Amino acid sequence: MPTTDTLIPATNITDSQTVPVTLNGKNILICKANGDFYAVDNMCTHQRAELTGGRIRNCFLACPLHGVRFDLRTGKPMGELTRVPLKTYDVRLADNGNLQIELD
Ligand code: FES
Repeated sequence: MPTTDTLIPATNITDSQTVPVTLNGKNILICKANGDFYAVDNMCTHQRAELTGGRIRNCFLACPLHGVRFDLRTGKPMGELTRVPLKTYDVRLADNGNLQIELD
């Protein structure tokens, strides 16, 4: 599995912040929730809205358009609007302090 460095220092991301990045042509959203980093596809599985700026509560990211909440750990949606999970990616903190995303 290729790993891609985001060039974003982990210290630049504050809790409950979402940061969109393009890695290998993929639109990925990095999220920080309760001190942990997560990465998911930046595209809601309901009507394909970008998730940038969605509100984070605990480990859940809410879509800005209709509010479906996705579990950042698993990508699983809550509620009835969609049953399709978000794709999630493993995130690592590299020795240089940047975040690394494991793409497949
Ligand atoms: S587009 Fe995200 S909940 Fe509808």
